Amino acid sequence: MTEEVDTGRRHFLTVATVATAAVGAAFVAYPFLASWKPSARAKAMGAPVEVDIGKLEPGALLKVEWRGRAIFIVHRTPDMLAQLGAVEAKLRDPESAESDQPQFARNQARALKPEYLVLVGVCTHLGCAPLDKFTPGDVTVAADWPGGFFCPCHGSAFDLSGRVFKDVPAPTNLPVPPYRYLSDTRILIGAEAENA
Ligand code: FES
Repeated sequence: MTEEVDTGRRHFLTVATVATAAVGAAFVAYPFLASWKPSARAKAMGAPVEVDIGKLEPGALLKVEWRGRAIFIVHRTPDMLAQLGAVEAKLRDPESAESDQPQFARNQARALKPEYLVLVGVCTHLGCAPLDKFTPGDVTVAADWPGGFFCPCHGSAFDLSGRVFKDVPAPTNLPVPPYRYLSDTRILIGAEAENA
């Protein structure tokens, strides 16, 4: 690892730590909503998990669990989607060519429906949990940070599609799990979409 890369990583970490301490709760992570109710047996089997996203406000994040891993579901706003193209020159794998996701997610939005992002909340560096805060008001990784995910363990940063930035330790984008829609407001995580 070069000195230049290490310096950049320290900068990520320092700025993000300061920003996280600041007040900025415009958006709220909803921890484990009551609408998510897999049976105990289904949890034990690692079965698909049905999630109601009907009450997930634009700009909010819902965290659920599937196969013992955190799953982030983000209702992206049009402004958030508009940011995706602007950061691509700074990303390591903008086309998701070397990252883990179903075929349907190998695009800029990395999603079946662009407004809903579904990610595995496990850092691709050494498996830490990225913060479940992702807006510039909650976590600011750099001066021009447009929002995205940040892993504080060693300073890996990801955009609003979970795509990893260059010059951070994580080698690939945050994984997208298999999932499909049961209706406009219900997602089944762990089940392949028909065009996966
Ligand atoms: S585990 Fe996330 S940066 Fe190392």
